[in-house]
Amino acid sequence: MKILCLLTLILLVAPRFVSPANDNSKKSLFILAGQSNMSGRGGVDRDKWDGIVPPECRSNPSILRLSPGLTWEQAKEPLHEGIDFAKGLGVGPGMSFANYVLAKNRSLGPIGLIPCAVGATYINDWFPGTFLFDRMMNRTKTAWQDGSTLWAILWYQGESDAINKEDANKYKQRLEQFIHDVRSYLNMPSLPFIQVGLATGMGPYKNTVRKAQFAVKLPNVKIVDAKGLPIGRDYVHITTEAEVHLGKKLAKAFLGNF
Ligand SMILES: *[C@@H]1O[C@H](CO)[C@@H](O)[C@H](O)[C@H]1NC(C)=O
Ligand SMILES: *[C@@H]1O[C@H](CO)[C@@H](O)[C@H](O)[C@H]1NC(C)=O
Ligand SMILES: *[C@@H]1O[C@H](CO)[C@@H](O)[C@H](O)[C@H]1NC(C)=O
Repeated sequence: MKILCLLTLILLVAPRFVSPANDNSKKSLFILAGQSNMSGRGGVDRDKWDGIVPPECRSNPSILRLSPGLTWEQAKEPLHEGIDFAKGLGVGPGMSFANYVLAKNRSLGPIGLIPCAVGATYINDWFPGTFLFDRMMNRTKTAWQDGSTLWAILWYQGESDAINKEDANKYKQRLEQFIHDVRSYLNMPSLPFIQVGLATGMGPYKNTVRKAQFAVKLPNVKIVDAKGLPIGRDYVHITTEAEVHLGKKLAKAFLGNF
C-alpha cells in the first residue's frame, strides 16, 4: 500500500518537472576543452573523489550538460563523467562558471555545457582529424541543432606541452592554429576563446608555454591566469577551491564581452 501511494505520488508529481534530457529550449552553449585541470580533479586523491560539491558548483535545473550519448541532462559534478577516461574525476571549473554566469545574467539561461576535456593530452592531440577534435566538433554540432547559441570555448591546456622543449617552442603557433581550426570548422570566425594561463606545468618549459599563451594576438582571445591558485596534495592538479575560483574568473572574462 505504501509503495502504491508512493508510486501514485511520483506519477502525479513527475510531469511537472521538465525533463532536461528532452529539453529543446534554446540554450547558451559553452565548449569546455583541454586537459585534466579543465576536466576537473578537484577533491581527488589517489584516484578517489571526496564527493564534496561546494555551493558554487551545485546543480541547477537551468544548467545542462551534453552527455556522452549526446542528450541533454541536468549537469552535475563530476562534469566530465564519461568524457574524460581517467579513473578519478572531480571538480573542475565548469559548474562554478555556469552558476556564476547565471547569477549575473539570468537571460543567459538555460546554459548548455559541452564538456570535451581529457587529461594528459597534448595540443597536437587536438588537431582536425584527431579523435578529440572530431568528437568536440560532433558534440558541438549536435548541441546547437535546436537553434542554441554557442557563446565561447573555454580552454585550459598546455601542461603536457611544457614537458619537452620542441613542443613548448611550437606552442604559440599550434595554439593559434587550433583557435583558427575551431573557428573555421564551426564557421564562427570570431567565436570568443577564453584560455587559462598556466601557473606551473608538467615539465621544465612551463614559462615558454605560458609566454606563448599570453603572446597570442588573435581577436576575441582572452586569458585568465591560474597563477596563485592552490595546487592539490598530489602536486599535479589544482584543488576544488581553486577550480571554483577559476570558474568565476572565466565567467567574469566571458561576461566582460557584453
Ligand atoms: C545578458 O545576456 C544577454 C544575452 O542573452 C546580453 O544581450 C546582455 O547584454 C547581457 N546583459 C548584461 C548586463 O551583461
Ligand atoms: C564525428 O561524426 C562523424 C559523422 O557523423 C563520424 O563519422 C565520426 O565517427 C565522428 N567522430 C567522433 C570522434 O565522434
Ligand atoms: C594543473 O594546473 C596546475 C596549475 O596551473 C599545474 O601546476 C599542473 O601541472 C596542472 N596539472 C596537469 C596535470 O595539467
